[in-house]
Amino acid sequence: MCGIVAYTGNMKCKDILINGLKRLEYRGYDSAGIAVISNGTGRNTGLTNPEIVVVKEAGKIRILEDELKNLKIDGNCGIGHTRWATHGEPNKANAHPHLDCSGNIAVIHNGIIENYAELREELKKEGHRFISETDTEVLPHLLEKYNDKDLLSAMQKLLKKIKGSGTIVAISASQPKEIIGARITSPLVIGVSKNGNFLASDIPAVLEYTKNFITINDFETVRLTGDKVEIFDREGKKVKRVPFRVNWDIVSAEKGGYEDFMLKEIFEQPYGVEETMRGRLIDGKLNFDELNLSDKQARRLRKIQIIACGTSYHAALIGKQVIERWAKIPVEVDLSSEYRYRSPLVEEDCLFIAITQSGETIDTLAAIREAKSRGAKIVAVTNVVGSTVARESDSVIYTHAGPEIGVCATKTFTAQIIVMYLIGLYFAWKKGNIGENKFKEIISELKIIPDKIQAILDREDELKKIADKTYKYTCFLFLGRVFGLPAAMEGALKLKEISYIHAEGYAAGEMKHGPIALTDEKTVVVGIMPADTVYEKILSNIQEVKARKATIFCIVTEGDKKTEKTADYVFKIPKTLEELYAILTIIPVQLYSYYIAKNLGRNVDQPRNLAKSVTVE
Ligand code: G6P
Repeated sequence: MCGIVAYTGNMKCKDILINGLKRLEYRGYDSAGIAVISNGTGRNTGLTNPEIVVVKEAGKIRILEDELKNLKIDGNCGIGHTRWATHGEPNKANAHPHLDCSGNIAVIHNGIIENYAELREELKKEGHRFISETDTEVLPHLLEKYNDKDLLSAMQKLLKKIKGSGTIVAISASQPKEIIGARITSPLVIGVSKNGNFLASDIPAVLEYTKNFITINDFETVRLTGDKVEIFDREGKKVKRVPFRVNWDIVSAEKGGYEDFMLKEIFEQPYGVEETMRGRLIDGKLNFDELNLSDKQARRLRKIQIIACGTSYHAALIGKQVIERWAKIPVEVDLSSEYRYRSPLVEEDCLFIAITQSGETIDTLAAIREAKSRGAKIVAVTNVVGSTVARESDSVIYTHAGPEIGVCATKTFTAQIIVMYLIGLYFAWKKGNIGENKFKEIISELKIIPDKIQAILDREDELKKIADKTYKYTCFLFLGRVFGLPAAMEGALKLKEISYIHAEGYAAGEMKHGPIALTDEKTVVVGIMPADTVYEKILSNIQEVKARKATIFCIVTEGDKKTEKTADYVFKIPKTLEELYAILTIIPVQLYSYYIAKNLGRNVDQPRNLAKSVTVE
């Protein structure tokens, strides 16, 4: 999830771009850069055409800003980018903007080009020279190839050639006052003002310069000059659209109109889940080269060991069930903080997977080092490119949830669950333990999971109402079985983290061995009970706690009629495959916990005593 800002008009663009990038830094912050159409008075970066000046640096925007202070860049038309790496390390060469061979065209991009490898080969054969490892670099070369004096029509041709997601913005020294943009799937807005026009990934990036905006739809292209905005549909026909005015202040704008980052991130889950599948599920096939395993190694695998902490541990528990069920490989799961001290055995033909959204959790890092010293090969699953865990592992599978600002994990968790599903499917296929029909059924159901998550999010009001009625209770028990159990554990953790209410996530069948003693009229029991093979069992457990006067809230599947007879409140989720309920049930549980915490006036983004990444033991 990178950030994009661009400006053309009668003001100098250098400061506009830097200010915009600072506002966008939350979207990605491993490197940044700008390209300005200038008189060649800035630092010439070896370009054959001195009109486009590119300055880029690895690291935070501050480093780029310091570098720019010493340079005189006078241009009025330019583009800026802050990067959240997906392909290629976060270094200077991979930072955007990227140039074509002549240095005449500069491009920034947010998203993933799925067919970049074949495009790159094709372009190389035609003589184009590449200097980075990014997927983005194919874009300026494609524009160079298609550019017949008009960058806009080159962009429209390019859109037909690439597969992928995101937003592309380009400038050309031959059309020095124009900015060309294309939205494939990621957000891009136009800011309009009498001093010039802007393009940006979101409104806050340019809110200090204008309050008038125009939205751009998927597959539309735009041409901006200082005094004109043109929008074209996917067939290249002109579209008329009237600007709207926003009255946000900057802070609320960064939260995209949401009250907190946590709520914004909960609502970003359809996107994070889809991005994490992107490029891995192509045409009904599963592409998982990142695992770095030969077919022989995959087939020989006899065991998988997963370690993680906190919410990531709950993703690991889902991973265990799904891998064992589909791939028939035994999976052991450990808390990272326990693993390193329990004299673990590292066997041959065992794959070691470390799940960590931040890639910095010290317990997970220490467990990796321990396992490595015993000869294990490590696969990291993380959301942060270039993080310590990513660097110290043998291979990395990135979740593409985008930066998560709220301290407690939400969108990184659902992205991790997707990776668990993909790993389960991958080994099931490689080991020949799954039939083609089942394989295809799972893939097509996974593809529509983002829509089902969205359908739940659209009904947040129902969950808010249940939270309004129950937030004063002092003891919460979240119960689940099989795939519902990790969701129950995560629900309890979320509630504890942000509301400071005592909550337990428990295997419903274990209630009778202890926790049922806690149950009375001051208790809320949350039953995670989708329509799976253990539904009837958990329904009996719920009846047991109802008899002890607890208030009951159940998460069930649409069409369920039985639970309503026992429960005080029910929330219905869409139907899916038994294994995939693990990801759907978590969404209402997140929203419910969120609204309880809000009712109690808690700071959900920065709960007391907690940190986003825990780098102490
Ligand atoms: C902290 C965060 C949790 C997170 C845990 C593990 O406690 O507040 O949200 O689940 O660390 O973090 P990791 O980055 O390793 O997934």
